[in-house]
Amino acid sequence: MILVVGGAGYIGSVLVRELLARGYAVRVFDRMYYGNAGLREDRERIELKTGDVRTMDPSVLDGVEAVINLSGLSNDPTAEYNPQANYEMNTRANLSLARLCKRKGIRRFVFASSCSIYDVGIAEEEKDVVLDETSPVHPKAAYASSKHQAETALLELADEKFCPVILRKGTVYGFSPRMRFDLVVNTFLRDALSKGHVTTHYGGEMWRPMVDIRDAARAYILCLEAEEPKVAGEIFNVVYRNFRISELALRVVGALKEVGVKVEVTPEYRYQGVRSYRVSGKKLERVLGFAPAVTVEEAVKDMVESVSRYGYTDFDNPRYYNIAWMKLLEEADKIIGITGSVFDAAPAAPFKPAVVGMGVREPGSR
Ligand SMILES: NC(=O)c1ccc[n+]([C@@H]2O[C@H](COP(=O)([O-])OP(=O)(O)OC[C@H]3O[C@@H](n4cnc5c(N)ncnc54)[C@H](O)[C@@H]3O)[C@@H](O)[C@H]2O)c1
Repeated sequence: MILVVGGAGYIGSVLVRELLARGYAVRVFDRMYYGNAGLREDRERIELKTGDVRTMDPSVLDGVEAVINLSGLSNDPTAEYNPQANYEMNTRANLSLARLCKRKGIRRFVFASSCSIYDVGIAEEEKDVVLDETSPVHPKAAYASSKHQAETALLELADEKFCPVILRKGTVYGFSPRMRFDLVVNTFLRDALSKGHVTTHYGGEMWRPMVDIRDAARAYILCLEAEEPKVAGEIFNVVYRNFRISELALRVVGALKEVGVKVEVTPEYRYQGVRSYRVSGKKLERVLGFAPAVTVEEAVKDMVESVSRYGYTDFDNPRYYNIAWMKLLEEADKIIGITGSVFDAAPAAPFKPAVVGMGVREPGSR
């Protein structure tokens, strides 16, 4: 039994399907922030447990042979919005989960980290080089820092009884039944289909390591199945290729042209605190034979077909944008905290007459 924590998310939904296809029994533990659309088609074939990783009951690990942790806040805007929750989920909860696994004798633990740890920005040209797992990193933003702290704490647990593996993924593209349109290629696709043009910020000068979602899922499975000495306590970048954002936009536009969608690229040159980093994926290729295969163009063409098949063309639905959705949930939570529910009758508040002088004030009376 493989436990996928955060398995109802964008990557989790695709990974769970790949695991099932390879004959694994799968349990998902997820807070279900984005609902269960991602797992709907596999619902009968998995065990689904709902809850928060920060307070997970250890019994969720019963019968589990390996754990993949994808849970937590998964981008910069949500992490900056609530750095405390980000730290609790992305750093502390990962460590608690890993400790629980170690205590239970679950050896293999694969952690979802991120290449954004390598961000060097664009201000200093001499830093614009391809970085690998041995390169020093100095993450600044809340999201990248929380991932880096989680990595450091996790690696301290590595020993002959516990085999943590860290995957630093590049930015992921491609279709998932729990769709995100807040990731660069997917955003380009959304803009192309909804507005007829794609915008590249800062002239699209930034570098970004990219990987398709199915390739990313395969990287997790490789790390589950690898012989322990090859992966124990190791960090691997998961990258198909590095692209400048301007090239990515042109590739998206080119792929769309092939399926009859005509789109323009609108460059915009305003500086917006851009992230930029180039990262090598060679170690995963060398050690485990990882051969990412899905090009940006193939993923774009697949997305055109799949978003329409699944009815995910309501592009302004906040569900597809993590920060918009989390803010909406927070707002709804505040209101429901007062009213108790949306359509059920709210429980009657105890009647307290307003006392005015000696009498009770009637509605409308002066
Ligand atoms: N998508 C990318 O491009 C990318 C790139 C690098 C790294 N990552 C990392 O990969 C992982 C998965 O990313 P994703 O794109 O699928 O994100 P996602 O936001 O779609 O999925 C995260 C899942 O975790 C669940 N979750 C969040 N907080 C939880 C909590 N406290 N307890 C239990 N469940 C919780 C959510 O409900 C959601 O289903 C994340 O850790 C992310 O940081 C993603």
